[in-house]
Amino acid sequence: MKFNHEIVEKNIGLLGIFTVIAISIGGLVQITPLLFQKDTTEPVNGLRPYSALELEGRDIYIREGCVGCHSQMIRPLRAETERYGHYSVAGESVWDHPFLWGSKRTGPDLARVGGRYSDKWHEVHLLDPRAVVPQSNMPAFPWLAENVLDGELTAKKMEVFRGFGVPYSQEDIDNAKNAVEGKTEMQALIAYLQSLGHALK
Ligand code: HEC
Repeated sequence: MKFNHEIVEKNIGLLGIFTVIAISIGGLVQITPLLFQKDTTEPVNGLRPYSALELEGRDIYIREGCVGCHSQMIRPLRAETERYGHYSVAGESVWDHPFLWGSKRTGPDLARVGGRYSDKWHEVHLLDPRAVVPQSNMPAFPWLAENVLDGELTAKKMEVFRGFGVPYSQEDIDNAKNAVEGKTEMQALIAYLQSLGHALK
């Protein structure tokens, strides 16, 4: 029997069904192997879970919408690797839930910003970006220096992450409140920023 392509092209319902089938097969072929490849499911050497303070900082990063202007995903292109360092690999974000790769780059990529500046630089920059980068259009976040963390929920958050497979020890979780209580949001956010890219420089 000769397959008559014209029938499919003239029948929108059939075309729709065949399109869905074609895309599904393509999707399965591309996505399924990723779920089983070590490259994408296992942490890279040297990856450690976020400390209690870094984890709180990460939540502040999410709350303040930093991801709306900053990506954390260095593409394997020369212009990017020369500016930001080694391109990002999946094994670096296996313990990030949700990951913060982002797609908008109003500001620079932050995947490897850890260690690039001092804590003091970050503090001044977050309080008033124009003080260190005169042409900056990044907003200031002065309240971070005033808000103090109580650490009430930190242990719980770590337990949830442990449920996702992040290797927190019972000791990490028991000490979480102490590690965070009394610290400012600014300190937590800076600790988080300084941890970015620690596994692969
Ligand atoms: C409206 C967009 C915008 C938002 C929101 C924003 N930034 Fe920025 N950010 C920028 C721009 C533009 C720059 C580059 C100029 C500068 O250094 O200030 C920048 C620079 C930075 C840098 C220096 C990066 C480097 O490699 O020099 C850091 C760190 C940073 N931002 C952190 C943050 C954090 C943390 C937040 C959330 C609390 C945030 N930004 C929110 C736009 C933004």
